[in-house]
Amino acid sequence: MRIFLLAIALHSCSFLTAQQIAIIPQPASVIVGKGSFTINASTQIKFEGSGLENSANFLNDYLKKIYGFNLATTTKSAQKNVIVLNYERMDNPIAGAYRIDVTGSSVYIAGDNAEGVFYGIQTLIQLLPVELSKSLAIPQVKIEDHPRFAWRGLHLDVSRHFFDVDFIKKYIDFIALHKLNYFHWHLTDDQGWRIEIKKYPKLTETGSCRDGTIIGRYPGKGNDSIRYCGYYTQDQVREVVKYASDRYVTVIPEIEMPGHASAALTSYPYLGCTGGPYHVQQTWGVFSDVFCAGNDSTFQFLQDVIDEVIALFPSKYIHVGGDECPKTAWKKCPKCQKRIHDNNLKDEHELQSYTIRRMEKYINSKGRQIIGWDEILEGGLAPNAAVMSWRGEKGGIAAAKEHHTVVMTPTTYVYLDYAQKRNEDSVVIGGFLPIETVYNYEPLPKELTPEEQKYIFGVQANIWTEYTGNPAKLEYMIFPRASALAEVAWSPKEQRNWSEFEKKLPVQFKRYELWKTNYSKAYYDLKASILPDENNSGLLWKLETKFPNAQIKIDGLGNSSSLYNTPVHVTQNVSLTANCYLQNQLVSSATQNFYLNKATGKKITLTNPPAVEFPGNGGAFGLINGAVSKKYGNFSEWLGWPGGDMEALIDLGKDESLSKINIHTLDQKRGRFYAPSYVEVFVSSNGTDFKSVGKTSSFVVDQDNIGDMTVTFATTAARYIKVFAKNAGTIPEGQPGAGNAARMLIDEIQAE
Ligand code: ACM
Ligand code: ZN
Repeated sequence: MRIFLLAIALHSCSFLTAQQIAIIPQPASVIVGKGSFTINASTQIKFEGSGLENSANFLNDYLKKIYGFNLATTTKSAQKNVIVLNYERMDNPIAGAYRIDVTGSSVYIAGDNAEGVFYGIQTLIQLLPVELSKSLAIPQVKIEDHPRFAWRGLHLDVSRHFFDVDFIKKYIDFIALHKLNYFHWHLTDDQGWRIEIKKYPKLTETGSCRDGTIIGRYPGKGNDSIRYCGYYTQDQVREVVKYASDRYVTVIPEIEMPGHASAALTSYPYLGCTGGPYHVQQTWGVFSDVFCAGNDSTFQFLQDVIDEVIALFPSKYIHVGGDECPKTAWKKCPKCQKRIHDNNLKDEHELQSYTIRRMEKYINSKGRQIIGWDEILEGGLAPNAAVMSWRGEKGGIAAAKEHHTVVMTPTTYVYLDYAQKRNEDSVVIGGFLPIETVYNYEPLPKELTPEEQKYIFGVQANIWTEYTGNPAKLEYMIFPRASALAEVAWSPKEQRNWSEFEKKLPVQFKRYELWKTNYSKAYYDLKASILPDENNSGLLWKLETKFPNAQIKIDGLGNSSSLYNTPVHVTQNVSLTANCYLQNQLVSSATQNFYLNKATGKKITLTNPPAVEFPGNGGAFGLINGAVSKKYGNFSEWLGWPGGDMEALIDLGKDESLSKINIHTLDQKRGRFYAPSYVEVFVSSNGTDFKSVGKTSSFVVDQDNIGDMTVTFATTAARYIKVFAKNAGTIPEGQPGAGNAARMLIDEIQAE
């Protein structure tokens, strides 16, 4: 009887510590056995030959940091309690394949090359328990795995905010732990030059400091007037490059040209068209002070900078930026105009192309290749350039069709500076990008043939740091979305499955905690949605939580809170709050103000669906769901049409008397948001014969760039309302994002 009890105890013990397998990114094949292997202080790491110490060191550093001990290494064969690292030929076109065999007595890790062994180590790390213990039981398992894409990148903007070398190393560890392999270091921009260049000391003496920073979301609530500085010395850069290389991470330096150049121009005003004076920018956006492309000394400067950059970074690719370069200064500059004339260039777009081509020629002559943002397609792509497609996938598709190497980084799916939760309360930029959208990104566009798809080298997530001023916020922004990206970049397409990924997330959250890393808990937020009521008499407010055994209580229905069990029926203007409790502790809340009108909850269809990054909440229905946004950062509600028009058809069910149609929209040019150029309303009683009842181009601000466009008309009885909102079109010169499509956002159509 005693023995029997002991056996049960032992069994449950190993069962508890050998956790559920939750490897991110999901490997190609996992076969789970019975039992476990336990790593303890006397386990040895056995390897021979060069190239494997990086892997042994990484494992030992991790064990030491997280669990407080490390392992001896040996070259002698041992039968028991050993982790063996080895090479084996594997057949995968992309470097990094590996396999693992965990038995009761050993762990065997073989890689196609040193990189493969290193990825095997990352998988082993993820087999370790997330509970702290000196006895680390890992499940017996056989894993075979290989990367899907060659370029698995994570970017970081260190110009808008500076991150020190210690944090950069931590960031590179995040990259490595996720089997990502490119760190794109955005080193220069309008708000600060961050890399020491010996030949041009003022770049860091002057260009690495700004005299203040705007407070809050642009246009901001003033300036903090605090001098903000930071740069990396060349020794520090070398240290970072080595640190990354030991983790099989390639560092791609980005030196922005010809735009985003204010910091460089402030340091050396002769580099600009007017000669200045210039200043390191203290606010965000796109600035018209750019490198003068008519001045040969600009090219001399850029070539000298590139010489030093090439000496520091061994990467095949050097990123030359190329994005968001306004042409206003060039249009007025005699030197730039002469360059256009002398080289038979058509316009300033071809001058941009001339600049990039000329720099490409120089960089190619040094044995390197250029990569740039998709604007480098404008005016003709440089012959050997690789393209980062950020303004959607269009640029990447065009470049792949021209047989140029492409890295997909579309804002829609992988801009980690976008909000990951509805009702984000910290200041962020852009659209709504929940983890599920990142996870479901497919980098190979259907528009390409299999032959053309071969030019899609991989995928990268970008994080711009205007509103990310410290490591905690940065970690919050990237996690858990960078973990989702890892699976997009690494895992075989057929192994990618959101509901399986979701099951791994709680373990991944515990790993972040082991790493003492901040992360967003948006995944657990109370999910509130507004639905049409089947009986067409009002709305339903539905609440969901990912927490099992949570309790949701509703305030606003009467004098006391009521326990939620089915969607709340809403038939009048009301403010409701839902509070989610876990063992009596408040874990999440949602508040909704409802504004009902004649269109609320009725049938609506849209001619063009909204864009993926501005989906609203519940598609077209979001336009008549009684929820009106009071701020832009509230991503619950905005439906967006970047570049497109909106046409909505509302069926009121029966004739109603109407005299006013209102659309609620946003006009914030800095964020590229433009109210419609006009709104026209048509009505009909039969759904076929529509007549126009009015048109307006007047936008009346309510607050924070949000407001209304209202069409009023003589009272008319009609059952059908058609609302057409015309997109403002291409953003004009001189405005942020000039040349891009205006983003038109609408969150509600109201009928009275
Ligand atoms: C970019 O986001 N401006 C490349
Ligand atoms: Zn010029």
